[in-house]
Amino acid sequence: MTTAFARNQWYVAAYSQEVGEDLMARTICGEPIVFYRTGDGQAVGLADRCVHRRYPLSLSHRDGDRIVCGYHGFTYEPTGACVYVPGQTRVPRTARVPSYPIVEQDSLVWIWIGDAAKADATRIPRVPYLAAEGWTTVRGMEPLAARYSLLVDNLLDLSHETYLHGGYIGTPEVAETPITTEVDEEAGIVRVSRRMKDAECPPFYAKSTGITGRIDRWQDIEYYPPCLYTLHSRIAPTGVEPGPDGDDSRAAHAEIVYAITPETESSTHDFWMVARDFAVDDEEVSRFLAESNRTVVLQDVVALNALEKVIATEPDGYQELSINIDTGGLAARRILKRLAEAS
Ligand code: FES
Ligand SMILES: [Fe+2]
Repeated sequence: MTTAFARNQWYVAAYSQEVGEDLMARTICGEPIVFYRTGDGQAVGLADRCVHRRYPLSLSHRDGDRIVCGYHGFTYEPTGACVYVPGQTRVPRTARVPSYPIVEQDSLVWIWIGDAAKADATRIPRVPYLAAEGWTTVRGMEPLAARYSLLVDNLLDLSHETYLHGGYIGTPEVAETPITTEVDEEAGIVRVSRRMKDAECPPFYAKSTGITGRIDRWQDIEYYPPCLYTLHSRIAPTGVEPGPDGDDSRAAHAEIVYAITPETESSTHDFWMVARDFAVDDEEVSRFLAESNRTVVLQDVVALNALEKVIATEPDGYQELSINIDTGGLAARRILKRLAEAS
């Protein structure tokens, strides 16, 4: 099982709204990082370890855009350069902490952990609906005490909705309906689709859309390894098809987005978002979806934390058994392995 992570990749470090005036500590791919926003609105990520005696900069304080180490006062610019040390005028040339490339778009703060010379912002996948007119998004982040590859497996095989999330998003049809899987090896994207006709409407969608009765339910997954997972969910009263011109305004759409960011080799930041194009001003629907989705995510967290413990105690060379539903997950593992080996 893949555990190593690809360093030369973009990862979601935070939601834009989380990064502000206060210094925020978060470990990404094993690197402790301090995040904050400068006076002109730029998000900054610096190694969270003073070069002097390792004091966490996140426990220190700001002086304007600079961070003053809370132990002996080494003072750092947003570039990571140290501009002041106590008791002498000469600042040693090596007094600098790494500053990580950061790109903020679609309400997400992306960070590049690896070789900064290779950071190409155009390779970051886009999710414009998270911050677009006509859409409303609810979101959260749950800490997961399990390796990120377990969350990738989990999200690429939604048949588990029937068993783990019954009463929320699972109905019998999810597990019963076969999937189609497509792998774009060149672009490194995995697509898994499940199209359900005349299916039961789970409470998650019945209560939020107001659709009563049977539905046609589409689940179209696109996974952009390593970090970004999108699930395009279409819900319509059964028989309501998109028009030949592509008009699908009689259906409700939810974009379920996850950012899967390794914290350490055995823990993960599980960022979850639900964007919708229906009932966009209805705060009760927002509250309901936020609460329900968090409950669903926590059901996964409990299950994956249990799997991590099983893996920790199993003998070397233990073999899982895979079936058709695992095709997408296995393709994702292949791509993740390739990315990890390349960085
Ligand atoms: S540890 Fe930061 S100044 Fe000493
Ligand atoms: Fe789940």
